[in-house]
Amino acid sequence: MENKNLHKSQSDKKRYNIKEVAILAGVSVATVSNVISGIKYVSPELKEKVSKVIKQLDYRPSKIARGLKMKKTFQIGVLVTDITNPFFAEVVRGIESIVLKEGYQMFLCNTDGNIQREEEILRVFLEPCVDGIINVAPRMDERSLRNFLDIPTVIVDRPISVDNQQVGNIYADNISCSAQLAKYFIKKGHKTFACIAGPKHVPNVQKRIYGFRKELENAGVSKENILFLYGEFKHEDGYKLMNKLLNCKLKPTCVFLCSDIMAWGALEAIKKRGLKIPEDVAIAGFDNNYFSKLLNPPLTTIHQPKFKLGGGAAKILIDIINNKYSGKYKRAREVVLDSKLIIREST
Ligand code: RIB
Repeated sequence: MENKNLHKSQSDKKRYNIKEVAILAGVSVATVSNVISGIKYVSPELKEKVSKVIKQLDYRPSKIARGLKMKKTFQIGVLVTDITNPFFAEVVRGIESIVLKEGYQMFLCNTDGNIQREEEILRVFLEPCVDGIINVAPRMDERSLRNFLDIPTVIVDRPISVDNQQVGNIYADNISCSAQLAKYFIKKGHKTFACIAGPKHVPNVQKRIYGFRKELENAGVSKENILFLYGEFKHEDGYKLMNKLLNCKLKPTCVFLCSDIMAWGALEAIKKRGLKIPEDVAIAGFDNNYFSKLLNPPLTTIHQPKFKLGGGAAKILIDIINNKYSGKYKRAREVVLDSKLIIREST
C-alpha cells in the first residue's frame, strides 16, 4: 500500500489507529500492542511484518491510551537545584540519554535548594503523575526524605540509608578527592588554607570539608590556619565570600571552593583586587564543569562524572520500575562513582 499521506502537512494527515495497523498486517490488535510495548514475546517474522506497516502508515500509538491501559504515565519526574548550574545540566543530559531510549519523557523541576519547594514538587509527582522520580541533590533531611519514597525513586549526589526495594542511590566520592586536594596544596608548600563551602547542612558539603580538613590536620596544620566559610552553590556567593576572605586577618594562600561556579566568582573577586592566581592566591573548585578549563587561568578542580551520575540514576530507576529489585532484594542498588583531581594553572 502506498502512503498517500506522505506529502500532506501534519494537521491534514490521517491518523491511523491500532485496528487499521492490525488489519493491514494481518495480525491481531494484541500482537500489534505487544510489538509496540516489547513486553511480551512476538516472533521475529510477525515483529517485522507489524513494524513495516507501522512505518508505512506512520502510525504513532497514543501515549495516553497506552498509559491508561498499562496504568503508567511514561513520565519520569526529575528534581534538580538549578538547571543553569552546568553540574545539573550535565546530570540531566545523562538522565535524558537513557530515559528517552526507554520510551519515557522527563518532567523537570528546579527547587532552588528550597526545602518547601522540594516538598511541593514531590507531592505533585507522588499524585502520582510520574512513574518514578530522580531526585538530584535533595536538601531536605533524610527523615523527611523518607516520607517521599512511595514510588520508584533514585536519590542522586548524596547517600541515603534506607532498605526499600523501590529506592536506588548513586553519588560520587566526595571525601578522598577532597583529601587529595589538601595533600596537593601541602606539597605545593602552602601554610594557610581556606575552604569556601556550600550550604553547611548539605551532606556532600560535609564530606568535602571532612576530607579536606582531616588531611590538613593529619599533616600537622593547626586549626587556626584553616578557615571555613559557607554559602550557596552560586557564582555570586563565590565572589562575595572570596572578598570576605581577602579582608580576613589570616591571609590564606590557597582556597578550596566546593563548586566550580563558586570558584568562578572567587576568581573574579581576586582579579578585581589586582592579585595574581596562583602566585598570590591559588584556587581550586569541585565539579569540573565544561567552562572550568576555559577560565583564565584554567581551574584546578575535582572531576565529578556528571553524565554518568545521571545516566546511572536513570538505568537504576528503569530497573526499579521494571521490578528488577522485587523479591530477594532488600534494597535497590547503591552506586558510588570515582571523582578525580584535575590539576590546571589556577594552583
Ligand atoms: O555545583 C553544584 C554542586 O551541588 C555540585 O558540587 C553538586 O555535587 C551539588 O551538590
